[in-house]
Amino acid sequence: MARRLSLARTQPRRRVAPAAAPAPWWRDAVVYQVYLRSFADSDGDGIGDLRGLRQRLPYLSWLGVDAVWINPHYPSGGADGGYDVVDYRAVDPEYGDVSDLEALVDDARRLGLRVVLDVVPNHTSDQHPWFQAALADPDSPEAARYHFAPASAEPPNNWQSLFGGPAWSRTPDGRWYLHLFAPEQPDLNWRDPVVAEDFERTLRFWLDRGVSGFRVDVAYGLYKDAGLRDNPGAYSPTLFGHGPEQAMTWNQPEVHGVWRRWRSICDEYPDTMLVGEVCLADLEQVALYSRPDELHQSLSFRLLKSPWAVAPFAEAISSALDAYGRVGAPVSWVLGNHDKERQVTRFGGGELGTARARAAALLTLALPGSAYLYAGDELGLPQAHVPDEAKQDPIFHRSGGARAGRDGCRVPMPWNPTEGVGFSPDGAAEPWLPIPADWSRYAVSVQTGQGGSTLTLHRRALALRKAHPAFASGSATVTTRGDVLTIRSVDGGEAVRCVVNMGSETVLAGCPGSVLLASTAAVRRSGGTVALPPDSAVWVLED
Ligand code: GLC
Repeated sequence: MARRLSLARTQPRRRVAPAAAPAPWWRDAVVYQVYLRSFADSDGDGIGDLRGLRQRLPYLSWLGVDAVWINPHYPSGGADGGYDVVDYRAVDPEYGDVSDLEALVDDARRLGLRVVLDVVPNHTSDQHPWFQAALADPDSPEAARYHFAPASAEPPNNWQSLFGGPAWSRTPDGRWYLHLFAPEQPDLNWRDPVVAEDFERTLRFWLDRGVSGFRVDVAYGLYKDAGLRDNPGAYSPTLFGHGPEQAMTWNQPEVHGVWRRWRSICDEYPDTMLVGEVCLADLEQVALYSRPDELHQSLSFRLLKSPWAVAPFAEAISSALDAYGRVGAPVSWVLGNHDKERQVTRFGGGELGTARARAAALLTLALPGSAYLYAGDELGLPQAHVPDEAKQDPIFHRSGGARAGRDGCRVPMPWNPTEGVGFSPDGAAEPWLPIPADWSRYAVSVQTGQGGSTLTLHRRALALRKAHPAFASGSATVTTRGDVLTIRSVDGGEAVRCVVNMGSETVLAGCPGSVLLASTAAVRRSGGTVALPPDSAVWVLED
């Protein structure tokens, strides 16, 4: 007999009374993540840009997302895909200029879309004027804005860079400086008040140009242990996130003060929001970043690292609902992003991986809270093979090739089945990362209007999510039964279910009501039951 494993994890109801003020847009928004360099190239240099994105905004409106988050657009040293910023209040000429960004924001607003920027407060580029001044003069005020240590035989402590190797490198004059990522990304010293002041200017600079908020890079970083003490253990990329073993480098209590201050700035600009990247293993700690006076959201990465099986998925969902629910924040679900292998590949590749990725998409979009959709995932793109000589990611290079790096999920978007897949205007430009030969079959124009395509599935799911608020803003219950995971959500008089079969046999799930959407045409309804083939999901509206 089937056993009920875990039951009843609920998230507080958002709509308390009909007279309550409408919930802010970000609580249940679907935010589409644009890797700017790879989205659309308007000027034929093989690099995506703001005008290219602007031209494609009607696609995003047609798809049905609510907002666009753009990966860093700033002038950059180019060492880490734009996350090494040289000037926080400018646009890299490769991508356009500030007026292009303003035009993007205006066009987006006309289409009912919001624009969210990426801000990178943990570190700058080594080309940033502050770091250059600090290199030139150890006694300069700029030197106090970074972590320098005097010349000595050994680095000041055992901290490791997340990209491999020690977190300390030497300056030409023999001093040590801290970089928790690449050596070209020196960490800022947030104990210097000038650093905080400068970022507040940056926030206002972009908010004054009409953006709807920021995705905050490495929001669990910024402050370091004041005594720079050794970490108790080593970082492992296989963990859900950082924990006590890295207690000296991450999650220092002082950082919450920064988010309170940033929140108060955003409060001056209606309808803006902050969403933090908080890679901590303990979800209770992650949730603390989205307390009511801090960041509006903190991204929940559990699904990104969960293998395809009921127990880890149920645990990822239930624990996030519990932890975020306790601070009154919506969960911000992430199934894919620019740092992780595409889910088609992660879940097994080929038809198997595609079936699972489609089912996982329905599951994610049925969860209460907001969802982050990474560009290309709506097309079912697999991880692209990028030859080693074309790879750009510092993770690949700093690990001596031991870690594959992130280039394979950053390959340009296929728009149509022409040469160059419509990424650049005439198809002749050499794209900044090579596009696989068979990429045309995933192209937007190929999948548009095709009943069974992954693009159509996403578009339908997004429309249904809007039409049935119970999905995104209901009170959810997570149930497991054998290989079947069910999320049942209730909002007002409406109840909806997402049922996922994560096993290898067809299962019959009892769920009365009408089928709204299925991840495969092989899902069959008969009376009060639904036959779900392996690796499939269905959305049901209860009678
Ligand atoms: C975040 C970004 C990642 C970047 C790192 C350093 O994790 O998502 O792409 O490499 O921060 O800025």
